[in-house]
Amino acid sequence: MLIGIIGAMEQEIKLLAESMVIAETRTIGMRDYYTGRLFGQEVVLVFSKCGKVAAASAVTTLIETFEVKLVIFTGVAGGTDSGLNIGDIVIADKLVQHDMDASLLPGCKKFEIPLLGVDTFEADSNLTALGVKSAQHYISRHLKQDVAPEDLSEFRISIPSVVVGTIASGDQFIADSHKVRTLNAEIPNLKCIEMEGAAVAQVCYEHNMDFIIFRVISDKADEHAGINFPLFIERAASHFTRGIIQQFISEA
Ligand code: ADE
Repeated sequence: MLIGIIGAMEQEIKLLAESMVIAETRTIGMRDYYTGRLFGQEVVLVFSKCGKVAAASAVTTLIETFEVKLVIFTGVAGGTDSGLNIGDIVIADKLVQHDMDASLLPGCKKFEIPLLGVDTFEADSNLTALGVKSAQHYISRHLKQDVAPEDLSEFRISIPSVVVGTIASGDQFIADSHKVRTLNAEIPNLKCIEMEGAAVAQVCYEHNMDFIIFRVISDKADEHAGINFPLFIERAASHFTRGIIQQFISEA
């Protein structure tokens, strides 16, 4: 089964790309798609660039051109649940586009995609459960050897937790605790925000395609996010994403 893997930024999937045995590279729509083997599995890997349009374009190509049978999105996110810390892992059971608001149109709720009639996209519960198990195994078996101790302590990471919940996506980098409070009040069980997941989920919904979205908390979307985010993606993100995907592929 061919799996499509997407990360938004090169730094987030650098080590995954380095772990791949690349058979072919195709450039489509200004993106490079790497086909080959990753941890023994046939995959197509692409970094989409940031935002919902970029992610939607990348996932559409994976589905239509490469005919992948499962889509994995991996990367970092801003934690919105106050119980989450940097390094914790979120796996989406539901995804919402938090910047979609056509509620002035008759019959359209906030966050609902007009004419599609859907405001929340749901992930497959078996895949989500497998994702949780894989992420937990990565943390308990490999994280400490993988990420440098000084980086773990800089981010105050001890034993990260793995949680399942709602991820909200929008075309905004959020560094505003007031906005985080508003989103928490509007979206039940919100765990984190990022810029791509719900767009991937919408395209997968429209194509009846299975997907799983893994996110590692890089910041808390608050006033420190502009400092924590670049530090985390430089020092730790790629280790987490490689470790989680390796574990997921070996357990799938
Ligand atoms: N991805 C990681 N942190 C984020 C933030 N604070 N806002 C949007 N996307 C993010």
